[in-house]
Amino acid sequence: MNILLLGKNGQVGRELQRTLLPLGTVTALGRDALDMEATDTLAATVRAHAPDLIVNAAAWTKVDLAETQPDQAFAVNANAVEILAQIAAEHGSTLVHYSTDYVFDGTKQAAYVEGDQANPLNVYGRSKLAGEQMVEAAGCRFILFRTSWVFSADGANFIKTILRLARERPSLRVVADQFGAPTSAELIADVTALAIAAHHRSQLADGVYHLTARGRTSWYDLACYVVLRAKELGFELQADVSDIQPIATEDYPLPAARPHNSLLASDAIAHRLGLELPDWTVHVDRMLDQLRTREPQS
Ligand SMILES: NC(=O)c1ccc[n+]([C@@H]2O[C@H](COP(=O)([O-])OP(=O)(O)OC[C@H]3O[C@@H](n4cnc5c(N)ncnc54)[C@H](OP(=O)(O)O)[C@@H]3O)[C@@H](O)[C@H]2O)c1
Repeated sequence: MNILLLGKNGQVGRELQRTLLPLGTVTALGRDALDMEATDTLAATVRAHAPDLIVNAAAWTKVDLAETQPDQAFAVNANAVEILAQIAAEHGSTLVHYSTDYVFDGTKQAAYVEGDQANPLNVYGRSKLAGEQMVEAAGCRFILFRTSWVFSADGANFIKTILRLARERPSLRVVADQFGAPTSAELIADVTALAIAAHHRSQLADGVYHLTARGRTSWYDLACYVVLRAKELGFELQADVSDIQPIATEDYPLPAARPHNSLLASDAIAHRLGLELPDWTVHVDRMLDQLRTREPQS
């Protein structure tokens, strides 16, 4: 299988560089080699590679900046995705793409299932929803994963921000009324490879699938967990768990509104692939271990 991976340097892209290897010949491109906003170059480059499978891990993920730069967010998250989906349809290739819990408004009490009504609260969510619609409208073969609260040892993410702040400051304030499931880029990339293999054997249908770790937490509880575990592992932090103050969303105003409930039910993909998705704590522990091994003061 000839595989083209886009967004190779993002959190998920980096992990996909590893997990896609057993599935075929992988060409992995980052922004330096291919700017997704340059639509003509994008189309020409993808056509030239003639991939059997396109895996798109590139995205505009700056949620707050998207409020003032909607054109860039839509260019990467929707227009570029439309081009990929149209080329996949023309050439009979499969597109693997990622979307977000932020397509939902977070007012549902339970975890969101794939068929729930989308109603994004911010520009980023609208741009990602537009990308989903492009994929579904193009008529290509596709696997589209919605995930949430992504983290990895290499990327910019909430957990690394908490570690930095806890090192620099004696106390922290963290939002306690938004709930979700932190999901590691490792898990997403592992399950993506399993899903591609199953799809290739016609054991997984085209469609939208929710993919997150098991369990539920708030940003506040996640911050407490991270600081507690990091201290146990010997990270030198100023702030202790007791120095983390829970606050409400309205006490931490940001340009983009966020859903209060980000929980996605991942039963469909777990059932189809025969998986037991791990609790979110498992990969948080793995990440802290990786950071400690790399650099004791991370
Ligand atoms: N991060 C989250 O919490 C989260 C939550 C839910 C869903 N998702 C979705 O999961 C997928 C993977 O997210 P992630 O966390 O791996 O994102 P990420 O770490 O921000 O990686 C995105 C990658 O896309 C690249 N990119 C952005 N604009 C580009 C352009 N114009 N041309 C080429 N490359 C460009 C970025 O390059 P630069 O580094 O050069 O900017 C980066 O390497 C995305 O579809 C995202 O929407 C993420």
